Amino acid sequence: MSDSFFTMSQVRLVKHAPGAPGLRILGLGPSFIPTQGLSKLQKLLDKHAFWAKNRSFKNLKILLAGSKVIISLWKGKRLIGFGRATSDGIYRAVLWDIVVADDLQRKGLGRRVVEELLAMPAISKVEKVYLMTTHSSDFYEQLGFDKCSTQELLIKSKNISKTE
Ligand SMILES: CC(C)(COP(=O)(O)OP(=O)(O)OC[C@H]1O[C@@H](n2cnc3c(N)ncnc32)[C@H](O)[C@@H]1OP(=O)(O)O)[C@@H](O)C(=O)NCCC(=O)NCCS
Repeated sequence: MSDSFFTMSQVRLVKHAPGAPGLRILGLGPSFIPTQGLSKLQKLLDKHAFWAKNRSFKNLKILLAGSKVIISLWKGKRLIGFGRATSDGIYRAVLWDIVVADDLQRKGLGRRVVEELLAMPAISKVEKVYLMTTHSSDFYEQLGFDKCSTQELLIKSKNISKTE
């Protein structure tokens, strides 16, 4: 169906269990239907997330297993949005890999992903929720995040194999 006929009611939001075992092991989509979800996640990130290109299946499985909170958005069998968070459940959480397919951006879906992540029990009681963004600070600011001028971001990097 053409996206010009897009309505919110066509979108299914899936709140995965910690580590998303269904998506990670069986590729399940909405209603627990097998749909090669891992391959779809890889394509979504490859196309829309410049920081998350060429992530292998093996590494995506590790990524999911290490994420406490995971949300996916589906239009039929198409994966159209994704977001995840790590959290200690009380003091610190970090949002990662918030993505909406480009032909469906600016329709409120990104807001929905972030709001649902923030409402999940592992995040909602946390003292500080962090996120890093290169181009989308305006998007997060209108969702209640503040720019931080009192701290610096420091990074220790490692090369991760993209072929496994
Ligand atoms: C950032 C992203 C997730 C936003 O998703 P989206 O579905 O387009 O966002 P929404 O439609 O929910 O937008 C919510 C609000 O933010 C605003 N907004 C969205 N993207 C914005 C941007 N890049 N800059 C400024 N404002 C933005 C919208 O105008 C909207 O405001 P409104 O409710 O007053 O109209 C999406 O653009 C995306 O996937 N980008 C590529 C990947 C990326 O950069 N992700 C962020 C990584 S940190």
